[in-house]
Amino acid sequence: MGDTPDARAIEAPRPNGEFQVTVFPDRIRIGVRADETIVDALRRQGYRSRYKCRRGGCGACRAVLVDGTVAYRTPVSETVVDGPDREPGQQKCLPCRAFPQSDVIIELGERDRLVDVLAGLGRSRERTT
Ligand code: FES
Repeated sequence: MGDTPDARAIEAPRPNGEFQVTVFPDRIRIGVRADETIVDALRRQGYRSRYKCRRGGCGACRAVLVDGTVAYRTPVSETVVDGPDREPGQQKCLPCRAFPQSDVIIELGERDRLVDVLAGLGRSRERTT
C-alpha cells in the first residue's frame, strides 16, 4: 500500500504494555492496552467508530487488516471476519473483538470514518490517556 504510514509492525508491546494501532484513512494512531480491543481503545481516547453488536457477530465494524496481527479471545466466525467483499490476499478483522498482538494498521471503509468525539466537545485529547 503506497499510502502506508511509517508505523511498522513489531512483535513486542511498548514498556507500558500497549501496541500502536493506526487507523486509515483518518491517519489516527492510538495506543491499545493489552486488555482492550481496538474499539475499546478508540472509545477510551475519544473516537467513535462504526459498530453494532460488539460481539463479533454482525460485521458492522469490519476493517481491512493492512499490517500486523490481531487475536480474538472468543471465537469469531471466519465468514463474519471476511465479509462478502474480501479481495484475494486481503485480510480483514473485527475491531470490536480484536486484541492487537503487534503494532497494527487497519483501514476503515469510506462510510465508516472515525468521529472525533473529543474535538466535537472542544476537549483536549491528552486528558483521556
Ligand atoms: S460490531 Fe458486530 S462484529 Fe463488530
